[in-house]
Amino acid sequence: MKTTATALALAGFLSGAASIPNDAAREVSPVQRSFPNAPDAYTPADVDCPANRPEIRLGSSLSQNETSWLETRREKTQSALRDFFGHVTIRDFDAAAYLDRVSNNSSDLPNIGIAVSGGGYRALMNGAGAIKAFDSRTENSTSEGQLGGLLQSSTYLSGLSGGGWLVGSIYINNFTTISSLQTTEDGDVWQFQNSIFEGPDEGGIQLFDSVGYYRDIYDQVQHKEDANYETSITDYWGRALSYQLVNASNGGPSFTWSSIALSNEFQDANMPLPILVADGRFPGELVISSNATVYEFNPWEFGSFDPTIYGFAPLEYLGSRFENGSLPEDESCVRGFDNAGFVMGTSSSLFNQFFLQLNDTGLPDFLTESISGLLGEIGEDNNDIAVYSPNPFFGWLPELSPYANERNLDVVDGGEDLQNIPLHPLIQPARHVDVIFAVDSSADTEHNWPNGTALVATYERSISSTGMSNGTEFPAVPDVNSFVNLGLNSRPTFFGCDSSNTSAPLIVYLPNNPYSYFSNFSTFTPSYSEEERDGAIQNGYDVVTMGNSTGDSNWSACVGCAILSRSFDRTNQQVPAICTQCFDRYCWDGSTNTSAPGEYAPTTIVDTQEDAGSGVFPTVFSTVVAVSVAIFTTV
Ligand SMILES: *[C@@H]1O[C@H](CO)[C@@H](O)[C@H](O)[C@H]1NC(C)=O
Ligand SMILES: *[C@@H]1O[C@H](CO)[C@@H](O)[C@H](O)[C@H]1NC(C)=O
Ligand SMILES: *[C@@H]1O[C@H](CO)[C@@H](O)[C@H](O)[C@H]1NC(C)=O
Ligand SMILES: *[C@@H]1O[C@H](CO)[C@@H](O)[C@H](O)[C@H]1NC(C)=O
Ligand SMILES: *[C@@H]1O[C@H](CO)[C@@H](O)[C@H](O)[C@H]1NC(C)=O
Ligand SMILES: *[C@@H]1O[C@H](CO)[C@@H](O)[C@H](O)[C@H]1NC(C)=O
Ligand SMILES: *[C@@H]1O[C@H](CO)[C@@H](O)[C@H](O)[C@H]1NC(C)=O
Ligand SMILES: *[C@@H]1O[C@H](CO)[C@@H](O)[C@H](O)[C@H]1NC(C)=O
Ligand SMILES: *[C@@H]1O[C@H](CO)[C@@H](O)[C@H](O)[C@H]1NC(C)=O
Ligand SMILES: *[C@@H]1O[C@H](CO)[C@@H](O)[C@H](O)[C@H]1NC(C)=O
Ligand SMILES: *[C@@H]1O[C@H](CO)[C@@H](O)[C@H](O)[C@H]1NC(C)=O
Ligand SMILES: *[C@@H]1O[C@H](CO)[C@@H](O)[C@H](O)[C@H]1NC(C)=O
Repeated sequence: MKTTATALALAGFLSGAASIPNDAAREVSPVQRSFPNAPDAYTPADVDCPANRPEIRLGSSLSQNETSWLETRREKTQSALRDFFGHVTIRDFDAAAYLDRVSNNSSDLPNIGIAVSGGGYRALMNGAGAIKAFDSRTENSTSEGQLGGLLQSSTYLSGLSGGGWLVGSIYINNFTTISSLQTTEDGDVWQFQNSIFEGPDEGGIQLFDSVGYYRDIYDQVQHKEDANYETSITDYWGRALSYQLVNASNGGPSFTWSSIALSNEFQDANMPLPILVADGRFPGELVISSNATVYEFNPWEFGSFDPTIYGFAPLEYLGSRFENGSLPEDESCVRGFDNAGFVMGTSSSLFNQFFLQLNDTGLPDFLTESISGLLGEIGEDNNDIAVYSPNPFFGWLPELSPYANERNLDVVDGGEDLQNIPLHPLIQPARHVDVIFAVDSSADTEHNWPNGTALVATYERSISSTGMSNGTEFPAVPDVNSFVNLGLNSRPTFFGCDSSNTSAPLIVYLPNNPYSYFSNFSTFTPSYSEEERDGAIQNGYDVVTMGNSTGDSNWSACVGCAILSRSFDRTNQQVPAICTQCFDRYCWDGSTNTSAPGEYAPTTIVDTQEDAGSGVFPTVFSTVVAVSVAIFTTV
């Protein structure tokens, strides 16, 4: 096995041995929240197996790791909620006292999830505004009318595609804050002024000039291929992406997603559980929204609760040749396959489309040829794929799984099944989530605003007869025309307020809309000025807080009511009067208006932009959009 100079430079303080035993890798840096613990940088490599050989487990329950982690997290969210209700007051109701009273039975306490949708950089930025508003570490976010502390009170944070970049960038960078990712001082990370074609400027988180940047990406992927792992265009994409999202030299090729689980701060459950979502694509088929397999990457595992897979593989050992659910005696354990950038690239593999515009990018020839050659080999139909080979689910549940005979598992963008909000992991009955804050940055309408398509897709899957829903429940939502006609996509809306006949969570739908800034950038706009980035983040902040409750002075209280709603039902608590008013105002009342709406071009609520009023953001990269528009309307 080769050890490149790059690998050595990036492994940094590691010893430089080509293969580092697990335990040594685990000890590298106990203070960090994720670390560069891969044995050979980007290339998966053989390591000693642990005493209990890794195996696939049945998807009938949560993992033991998650179950025990949740016990610790419960204590943390309980005290965070008490803090939250210190500044979010529900008139004539003492929420902190209520929580204390019911806390002797932990299942009576609220269980909160946050889901951030896909939609490229627009989704990263809009979602970042939401997370910034929910994070008690953000300056002034715990002032009256604001929502700081919701992040600390949450159990789960899921992301897909562009939302997955957001979640990944936070967790791989030591659960950092949005404000730190936005900084322009030393240690800056989110520098989107240069597209991934140009690569970052020197002096930021990169060492080389542009040619060095490309050469480095090429070498990393080539090295994986030389080690006999199948590569796909997603490998290049994931590497390039990492230079913008991972705060380490050369896009941190040794950072693994599974390393999140090894840090002390995570093990102490001081943050929500991060989950990324991707879809399965059966060879030779397009993704069909009602029957696509939905996969999740959590810090311990990769797999699916769906009946087509119904199993989970230990993420750290992805790349090992599992067969029939176990690792045969003569097979080694492999680590380093779950590179963090590759995981984020998988969830956003649609953006492989960027690479189809090779002629416009000024890429050096060797890289163009390499990628074009690869595209030629796999054919245009397959250019959105991340190849997971060996398939960890080979031979697993052959009587149920259509993937049991596949040596390679094809995994694609989590939004390709139209479920562009990563709700699937959060509606699993085993997770008992009570309320989901669903941040939707989809580009559904002609001017790149959401229209409820993502919620409709998840709802329809939950009631479809394909068997894929497998016990999941989701509140009823109207059709997309009604979303637009009734304005359900231009302000927060609650779905599933009545819990009497369902175990579905309450959905707090938070659609992107122009509160203070037109953040409706095209999904395929590849670069952003700092002003654009910060404007979009600020807008996301204002949307979820309704302008720090200036849009409705009761808004923060209404969020508090949504958090407590399912708990109230379980404990037969009389609903405070103000909450009843909130539900009257924000719950979808079941009405519809299915007539085709006209052009949807909203104006800002706060008049802060000189050109406020059009809602039509000029897109520079219209060619890219034109090429992609037919297939990629929603993400
Ligand atoms: C990670 O964050 C924790 C908590 O904020 C901090 O104590 C630790 O020093 C950070 N680690 C690094 C490497 O920045
Ligand atoms: C997950 O659980 C298994 C068995 O319960 C344990 O051996 C392993 O160390 C845990 N993984 C992590 C990352 O905590
Ligand atoms: C919790 O306390 C309440 C009264 O304060 C009591 O009715 C209930 O049975 C207790 N539950 C448990 C699980 O101990
Ligand atoms: C926080 O609030 C203080 C006092 O109102 C104000 O001076 C400061 O600018 C605010 N900071 C931010 C980031 O809004
Ligand atoms: C990025 O890394 C640098 C150097 O380790 C550090 O100073 C900076 O705070 C980091 N930035 C973020 C957002 O984590
Ligand atoms: C998904 O549904 C389509 C249409 O019903 C069918 O052709 C296809 O075989 C299904 N795919 C899988 C993996 O079940
Ligand atoms: C897996 O199961 C198949 C079918 O039962 C069998 O032919 C094969 O030998 C098994 N593989 C291993 C490694 O046990
Ligand atoms: C790039 O240019 C070549 C030759 O001019 C052409 O054949 C090819 O189709 C172009 N590719 C794209 C993606 O436009
Ligand atoms: C809603 O979005 C979908 C794409 O997700 C689009 O096809 C449809 O035309 C849109 N409808 C309305 C009313 O905006
Ligand atoms: C989910 O699917 C698995 C595999 O088909 C099945 O055994 C299980 O009973 C299903 N669960 C529910 C709740 O339908
Ligand atoms: C909300 O508060 C934040 C931080 O305190 C501030 O930056 C922002 O401008 C405020 N938004 C509105 C619409 O007042
Ligand atoms: C705890 O609360 C749950 C949900 O309200 C209830 O089903 C369960 O019976 C309670 N447990 C005890 C011991 O009271």
